[in-house]
Amino acid sequence: MDIFRIEGPVRLSGSVKINGSKNASLPIMAATILTAGKSVLKAVPHLSDISVFGQLLDRLGCQVTRSHSGDLYIDSTTIDNPRGEYEIVRKMRASICILGPLLARCGRAEVSMPGGCAIGDRPIDLHLRGLQELGAKIRLKSGYIIAEAPHGLTGKDVFMGGPFGSTVLGTANVLMAATMAKGRTVIESAACEPEIADLANCLNKMGAKITGIGSARLIVEGVRQLRPVEYQVIPDRIEAGTFMVAAAITAGELKLLNCRLDDMMAVVDRLRNIGVTVDAANDGCVVGRNGPIKSADITTEPYPGFPTDLQAQFMALLSLAQGDSVIIEKVFPDRFMHVAELNRMAADLRKEGATVIVAGVKKLVGAPVMASDLRASAALVLAGLAADGTTVVNRVYHIDRGYERIEERLNPVGAKISRESI
Ligand code: EPU
Repeated sequence: MDIFRIEGPVRLSGSVKINGSKNASLPIMAATILTAGKSVLKAVPHLSDISVFGQLLDRLGCQVTRSHSGDLYIDSTTIDNPRGEYEIVRKMRASICILGPLLARCGRAEVSMPGGCAIGDRPIDLHLRGLQELGAKIRLKSGYIIAEAPHGLTGKDVFMGGPFGSTVLGTANVLMAATMAKGRTVIESAACEPEIADLANCLNKMGAKITGIGSARLIVEGVRQLRPVEYQVIPDRIEAGTFMVAAAITAGELKLLNCRLDDMMAVVDRLRNIGVTVDAANDGCVVGRNGPIKSADITTEPYPGFPTDLQAQFMALLSLAQGDSVIIEKVFPDRFMHVAELNRMAADLRKEGATVIVAGVKKLVGAPVMASDLRASAALVLAGLAADGTTVVNRVYHIDRGYERIEERLNPVGAKISRESI
């Protein structure tokens, strides 16, 4: 198991290239199940989550390989085992997004029920309800979802809203299933996240007929078959947001290349509000801070609201603000495992239900801390960059799920992070 030893405080300066989006890549990899042939996906990041998803596709019968240039090849000519096994699904909840495409392609799918995780219960009722609306028969057996549609799926109006708003992977599942359903499907209260728009654009390149892309109403005219595709995934807006906070928390300046500010307006708005400059530049932006960090209130919401996937990182940043901030988590109300760890680094955070009151402190202090999930771990790394002394982050494998060798990208711009195996 690896740990990070981080020496701080540092001031970051230089350029970082943002990688392709993990959360766009995963459903797009699943979408290749809909075609019988070899697809080429470009800019798919080298992450452990991507490898696990590759293994999942492999088990279904696909052949997944990487070229020397980094392109991901998925040959889905044969799908002879439409089953997502527990050993893989338990490692990564996103595995659930093979359900819709398997059902459309094979008329049958068995996928292990994903359990909860460090950020909450994470039910999948909306995924199942949406697929049932399209005509799938679904039952649960020994922890597995058994979904059947031997005569194909039929288009219908499907409402995808739930108690916490839209669902990202639920929308992905129903959207993929609807591409090959008979007739027209209208997905109402669809997730508007850029990753869903990217999936829809990829599906259209495969021959699907989807309109309303990027809106909360997706209209899908079913087609008989889709063809393999060559497609480049969008840059990772959450990785970009994490590096923006890295520049801000260290009072540094970073140029982020391959970054789409248009996908990040809520984040940019909060940053500018607290005294961080964000300027558009060729193929990206420049983010920096000279003055103090001002306090701010943040409420996470589905896109285009402030993303839950940046809540922990902004909590680390606001820990050092002048004054009190309030952070309300409206997407995953239990996503606060980082609160106690940041307090171990001398932050002053008080949790009340799904709200955290952040009382700004003058400095953070290095300490041994435990990574609990991907974004919480990123927050601890960011805090470590700004803290006085040594921070040791345990269970770094959480970070490796979503950030490609983050230390090798932060060290050239001024960080002092060493990875050690224990
Ligand atoms: N929900 C339901 N029922 C459902 C599905 C979701 O009640 O059937 C609830 C969830 O419990 C949550 C809310 O709806 O309260 C939103 O969950 P959503 O389904 O949108 O989350 P997801 O699709 O499982 C994706 C990302 C997450 C990201 C969320 C929200 C991927 C692989 N995962 O998860 O990313 O936090 O959307 O934006 O795309 C991460 O990258 O660190 C990460 C956790």
